[in-house]
Amino acid sequence: MSLMIEGGRRLSGDLTVQGAKNSVLPILAACILSGDVCVLQRCPHLEDVDTSIDILRHLGCAVRWNGPDLEVDSSTLTRWNIPDRLMHRMRSSVVFLGAILARCGQAELSYPGGCAIGARPVDLHLSALEKMGARFDLEDGYILGRCRKLNGAHIHFDFPTVGGTENLLMAAALADGETILENAAREPEVVDLARFLIACGARIEGHGTSVIRIQGVPRLGGCTYRIMPDRIEAGTLLAAAGITDGELLLTDCPFEELDAVIAKMRQMGMEIEPTADGVLARRSCALRGVDVTTQPFPGFPTDMQAQIMSLMCLSEGSGVISETIFENRFMHVQELVRMGADIRLSGHTAIIRGVQRLAGAPVMASDLRASASLVLAGLAAKGTTTVQRIYHLDRGYEHIENKLNAVGARIRREAE
Ligand code: UD1
Repeated sequence: MSLMIEGGRRLSGDLTVQGAKNSVLPILAACILSGDVCVLQRCPHLEDVDTSIDILRHLGCAVRWNGPDLEVDSSTLTRWNIPDRLMHRMRSSVVFLGAILARCGQAELSYPGGCAIGARPVDLHLSALEKMGARFDLEDGYILGRCRKLNGAHIHFDFPTVGGTENLLMAAALADGETILENAAREPEVVDLARFLIACGARIEGHGTSVIRIQGVPRLGGCTYRIMPDRIEAGTLLAAAGITDGELLLTDCPFEELDAVIAKMRQMGMEIEPTADGVLARRSCALRGVDVTTQPFPGFPTDMQAQIMSLMCLSEGSGVISETIFENRFMHVQELVRMGADIRLSGHTAIIRGVQRLAGAPVMASDLRASASLVLAGLAAKGTTTVQRIYHLDRGYEHIENKLNAVGARIRREAE
């Protein structure tokens, strides 16, 4: 499928931010730990959620939509393996590892392998789980994990890995004794997972800081939990207001979690203010280039790097973007250049000189956030932009064309 975008239309109106993809995925894995019924509110309808549902059903859980809520009953879990065909659809399914191990004492997952934005190894996940007593073998592209029981451990991450912290939170929730995670990821989605686990009966302290303490409990139960709003979708919509010279009011916008993003957008000349009804974003002057370095939270998120680059393509002056989290996350650059952007790459750094206008062109989406940056560029470009391979977008954005069309965009989904 592709999206045909007629550019040059100002966006204006109200939009509601979806539930967070990066929180719902580990929370769906954590449902396994409850052994009971969990009801997830504000669960976004995304391809990656469908993949997680397929994994849960394969494992023996009963999963059903009840209106906007997703109900997961993991009392009927029978399997501990995730076959290759399901792992391949979503690399982040590695977050099932800690939960399956803790519940079943064994786990078998096809090795997640590389993806478009970099190698994405899982060595930090495995060595931390080994400290808790798990043993791993790698056979025929599968990770085979075993443990008689998991014991609390003192773990120091060499890097504050988001998925690694989440896997360990889940494993430690049902382990024997206390686990201390140092240099843990502080991302809001890690906090959301910890809150979900606490709602199921887990004992966790320090989430949101770099030292998390988990007292293992013998069992967890079910709960009803509301997923946090998606800060990356919200950031993308703020960028859409900026790039189209528009005005958008975002309800359910996670304002504090977007601190680093909003600070940069304000520095570029956007006005972004919390109001009683939501976060209002508009721009009152020409945008200016800025320098951005991606960092773990609370720094500027790598998941907003591509989108802010599109905004910088149409700014006055120049700016530099340094990508420090993933080694190959500039694949949107050559596509933006096809649309008339002036970007030079040097290793992990992109130098962007603003141009007066972008021109619509056929472009190819290579990963989720790269796709979002091309949609943004297409909204502002003169003429029609065709973004091909949009299955990446559907993994993380809920009906993006319907949302943008509702505030004045003209986007059509077409079979390629
Ligand atoms: C999560 C997010 C992703 C976001 C990323 C960084 C989900 C589903 N995905 O991905 O959208 O871009 O955080 O904010 O939440 N690393 C290792 N060894 C490991 C684990 C990670 O070397 O065992 C490296 C990775 O290759 C990468 C860096 O650490 O270079 C960050 O990875 P990590 O924080 O683990 O990101 P993910 O959990 O994969």
